[in-house]
Amino acid sequence: MSISRARLDRLISEKCQINRKKVRLLLAQKRVSVDGVIATDIAQAIDKFSIIKFDDQVIQENRALYIMLHKPVGVVCATKDDKHKTVIDLINLKLTQAEKISLHIVGRLDLNTSGLVLLTNDSRWSEQLTSPKSKVAKRYLVTLKNPLDHDYINAFAKGMYFAYEDITTKPVKLNILSQYRAEVILMEGRYHQIKRMFGRFDNPVTALHRTSIGPFILDENLCVGESKFISISNKIVI
Ligand code: URA
Repeated sequence: MSISRARLDRLISEKCQINRKKVRLLLAQKRVSVDGVIATDIAQAIDKFSIIKFDDQVIQENRALYIMLHKPVGVVCATKDDKHKTVIDLINLKLTQAEKISLHIVGRLDLNTSGLVLLTNDSRWSEQLTSPKSKVAKRYLVTLKNPLDHDYINAFAKGMYFAYEDITTKPVKLNILSQYRAEVILMEGRYHQIKRMFGRFDNPVTALHRTSIGPFILDENLCVGESKFISISNKIVI
């Protein structure tokens, strides 16, 4: 899903249906610009967010989209689903159909988990946010069926072996908030990780809610099911 870098001449040739020799000529005539700067190199690397103009004609202009959604329980983190409403169906922001189709989800939540979901069409950003190397913390509020005790804290910090994937989970921070409620901080996102970790104690999770992903905190004013555009800085600060 990474943003593929393309060559300027290839894009112009495709979009304008002209051969590369002609593209070279257009560049020599200083008729092509990339992000407002006259292009001189046919091999210039561009990506899908580069604004390309030929004379006054816009050849490519894609907006980078960053969206925060307050996901309700019962909505699926997928772009299409036959049975359930999807997070994409919930987005009520001004987007063209093409922009809607271009979105992908940055770290899915289970059907019965609520809270923060980020969506974007910028795969370089989402990869940075989800890469294990970035060590981005994801915070969850968990409600349990049975009371918690301090043994959980060590077990979560030590990591748990998941035979199916043959991995040991990275250390997880567990803050006990009350008898039945805890905050869990994950640095990775294994399949049903939180439910499976509490499952080791035969303690079912009755509610799970994500409050943040790295520096992005679920906006308290965003009602369940609502979404909004967010702005990002280039560097993810953890
Ligand atoms: N862990 C889970 O078990 N479910 C989620 O949705 C997220 C983390």
